[in-house]
Amino acid sequence: MDDLHDRLKAIEQEARKAAKEAAAQSIEAIRQVESRFLGKKGALTQIVRSVGKLPPEQRAEAGRLANDAKRLLTDVFATTRRGREAQAADEERREAAAYDPTLPGPVRPRGGVHPVTAVQWEVADVFERMGFIVETGPEMESEFNNFEALNVPSWHPARDIQDTFWLTNGLLLRTQTSSVQVRAMRKYGPPLRVVVPGRCFRNETVDASHETTFHQFEGFLVDRHISLASLKAFLQLMLREVFKRDVKIRIRPGYFPFVEPGLECDMSCLICGGVGCPTCKHEGWVEMGGSGMIHPNVLKHGGIDPHEYTGFAFGMGLTRLAMMKYGIADIRLINSGDLRGLIPPERLAGPALT
Ligand code: FA5
Repeated sequence: MDDLHDRLKAIEQEARKAAKEAAAQSIEAIRQVESRFLGKKGALTQIVRSVGKLPPEQRAEAGRLANDAKRLLTDVFATTRRGREAQAADEERREAAAYDPTLPGPVRPRGGVHPVTAVQWEVADVFERMGFIVETGPEMESEFNNFEALNVPSWHPARDIQDTFWLTNGLLLRTQTSSVQVRAMRKYGPPLRVVVPGRCFRNETVDASHETTFHQFEGFLVDRHISLASLKAFLQLMLREVFKRDVKIRIRPGYFPFVEPGLECDMSCLICGGVGCPTCKHEGWVEMGGSGMIHPNVLKHGGIDPHEYTGFAFGMGLTRLAMMKYGIADIRLINSGDLRGLIPPERLAGPALT
């Protein structure tokens, strides 16, 4: 009898342990454990059945012990199941309470304006408010408008700096938005204020800040009594409006055959904060564009008397402006169509692109 007692005790302990583990999983797991002990072929059921085979004088005592153990385990499993059911109901209630049907649904990426277009609109808007006309001009341009009218005859060494793609129809892909200067002068006459956002092309080696296809932004103003001071003020104002804060700029002498004097305009690299990175070629400054007082020969090509009028012109890298504004470190991403590099993850709402 002692032996039966010990076996029942061992089964009870094993069943309690298994019930506890199953409770951490699911109600179904509890049911499976229960049937392992109390089912038709369960460990305890076998013992209850074997009582009939014992000698008659032992049956009563053994039957009592086995039935007590069966009742106990039935209770253990019932209590474990109820506990698990109560916990599941509780979880469901909590989930229901946390669900707010008035909240907006998950945001899907809806696409948006390309960073270059966004900056283009912004810059055009700033200058339109200052009375500038927005012109675009053709991307397929004549040699005259792209070079000769800008004081760069065919023999001029400055042609080498802007190697381009020559087309079989005698035209070329414009290397600069300056190609619209003479077109606009002839179209509107003085005084005039024009901005030209547009795509340009150059046959050059691609790196983190140079592309064969990129955008520039030209601005020029022709009137009486225009000086370099006006130019600097316009440049600073434009950058402040685009970046919504004061941006450090650096102006240094620069050579362009179509301006005299000529200037280069750099801005402090916003990718690295001015300490140096591949985008700014480790200089801390990014060249944003050239500028200067329009050369008398260009005014003459535009049909404007340089004795009566003066003007300034500048040509900025619109693509580089967009890179600085949106923290895009490599210009090759701009035309790549890879949104992961173009748009910061926090602005790319919805599921991440893989
Ligand atoms: C010019 O293109 C002149 N037309 C600018 C100008 C206008 C000077 C009016 C004077 C008066 P430059 O070659 O430096 O200059 O180009 C101007 C800007 O365009 C550069 O500073 C740069 O920001 C951008 N740029 C030039 N080449 C590339 C390129 N391959 N990839 C990306 N951006 C470029």
